[in-house]
Amino acid sequence: MEKRTRDIFFEIHKGLPREGPGRNDYTRRAFEILPKLDKPRILDIGCGPGGPTMELARLSGGSVIGLDNHQSYLDVLEEKIRKAGLSERIKAVNGSMFTMDFPEESFDIIWAEGSIYIIGFKRGLKDWRKFIKPQGFLVVHEMTWLKSDPPNEIADYWKRMYPGITTIPKNLEIIPRCSYDVLGHFPLPEDAWWEEYYHPLEERINQLRAKYKENPETLRTLNSEQEEIDLYRKYSAWYGSVFYVMQKL
Ligand SMILES: C[S@@+](CC[C@H](N)C(=O)[O-])C[C@H]1O[C@@H](n2cnc3c(N)ncnc32)[C@H](O)[C@@H]1O
Repeated sequence: MEKRTRDIFFEIHKGLPREGPGRNDYTRRAFEILPKLDKPRILDIGCGPGGPTMELARLSGGSVIGLDNHQSYLDVLEEKIRKAGLSERIKAVNGSMFTMDFPEESFDIIWAEGSIYIIGFKRGLKDWRKFIKPQGFLVVHEMTWLKSDPPNEIADYWKRMYPGITTIPKNLEIIPRCSYDVLGHFPLPEDAWWEEYYHPLEERINQLRAKYKENPETLRTLNSEQEEIDLYRKYSAWYGSVFYVMQKL
């Protein structure tokens, strides 16, 4: 992404409750598919401002590292950790999911809400596996076709934006080939897209439209963010982000 586009992207996204679809209840629902673990060590990859990171610390009673490569999101997470008095158990780490150098087999659970697409579903499953303890867990939610024959407009959009998007049955085939079992899967319901993500994002886009009304380049970026929201409004029956709860074999 070019610098000016990046700057406006972060101005649009700064301070939003989440950086992707999700809600604490669904983080909890996925967590409850796992067997009971005693104070697990968890890595939350692409944690953004840390919605899931904080919830995982509360749910597990264990320790959580939130990893992201964008410092202003980590600053928000650090503030949440400080306010909750959880600095003994939660750390915000600036690093890339492509170059992680944690000791092998050091996490009971790797968690990634809406971020594995950055490295790709299959590559993430393969590359991250070594950091998970034997019989440990990988939990992600990933953009997925909910029906196999999407209309051209939305199929073309996602082919351009994320060529790796595929169906639930295809992802369920990939998982055992990468040496994991599937313990469960479920799509995030539509409220997980609207309440803490698209509604606040849309409000921000409208505020910035007024501020940048004389700036065509910025307006183009705002329009492309709005396009994603409009397409979800129109085609939400066809795609969504699906939680896959996996155990390392
Ligand atoms: C769709 S957001 C999901 C954020 C968060 N999990 C949530 O549910 O709110 C993807 C996140 O991945 C982060 N990211 C992008 N590239 C990354 C990389 N190479 N390594 C680590 N994080 C990255 C972004 O900064 C962003 O916070």
